[in-house]
Amino acid sequence: MKRPGKSDPSRPREDGYDYKREFYRSSTVAEDYDFHRFSSPERQKRNRRKWAAICKALREATGVRTILDLPCGTGRFTGALAREGFEIVGSDISHEMLHKAASLEKENKAAGQPKAIRGYVQANAEHLPLRNDSLDCVVSIRFMMHVDPISRVRMLREFHRVSRRWVIIDYRHCYSFRYVLTHTFGRLGIGRPPLSRVSRKELDKEFADNLKKLETKVADESALAKWTYLLPNWTMESLLKKRSELLESKKEETSEDKANSPGALEIPGIVPTPDQ
Ligand SMILES: C[S@@+](CC[C@H](N)C(=O)[O-])C[C@H]1O[C@@H](n2cnc3c(N)ncnc32)[C@H](O)[C@@H]1O
Repeated sequence: MKRPGKSDPSRPREDGYDYKREFYRSSTVAEDYDFHRFSSPERQKRNRRKWAAICKALREATGVRTILDLPCGTGRFTGALAREGFEIVGSDISHEMLHKAASLEKENKAAGQPKAIRGYVQANAEHLPLRNDSLDCVVSIRFMMHVDPISRVRMLREFHRVSRRWVIIDYRHCYSFRYVLTHTFGRLGIGRPPLSRVSRKELDKEFADNLKKLETKVADESALAKWTYLLPNWTMESLLKKRSELLESKKEETSEDKANSPGALEIPGIVPTPDQ
């Protein structure tokens, strides 16, 4: 039986956000994606660990009913989250990945699995076609580490804007035995060096640098403060607070919030899945 390997079409060959954004916009890549990511026992095990981490985060996040899975890719986690009972919308920049996700969902439904995905919407994470506070939670898996710091800030702002309560992000770091091993072999010229990983220190530095930039911007613009406000409050808050405080600032959901919650179905721009 064929096993996933280094020559699979959906295995990225380069680092860099521009490359990654275009890479998945190919039907060959979309077709191969699940085989490469999920078909060997080792990869399935890795995936189960990731799924367990997502479930753990969701257990800690209170009041989550509606979720945006972005990027949803071929919809592996979209389907799994729907089966857990969440009202879910999948989104991705790649039509090819969305098409694959929709056809997998059709197969699942034909196999008798209950349908709970509300739809798919094609969108760029940097400019989401969604209203403020339209969902309870954004889940973003296997993505942020591919994105350059400037676009990353733009996306995090968008996630913060559209989510009423939570944003769950996974981020690949450099503290794994596998990474150390492949990195060492790569440096010795044996095999390809692994694609980039970050340390906690680097991430904290990125936050600190952005904060410094914002302080400079505020200082420069304060001369104009008498006449105009150039920075909206939400821009300031998300950058001026410590990361740990951002979570705490999300308010607890009241029964009134629940009653007024818009629900994923009302999100504009949803592409219904084929049989809706
Ligand atoms: C490695 S896949 C992850 C998919 C899925 N979360 C998973 O874990 O299987 C990365 C996905 O990001 C999507 N993507 C890249 N840039 C994007 C952007 N700016 N906005 C939305 N999706 C993007 C790609 O099309 C691709 O489907």
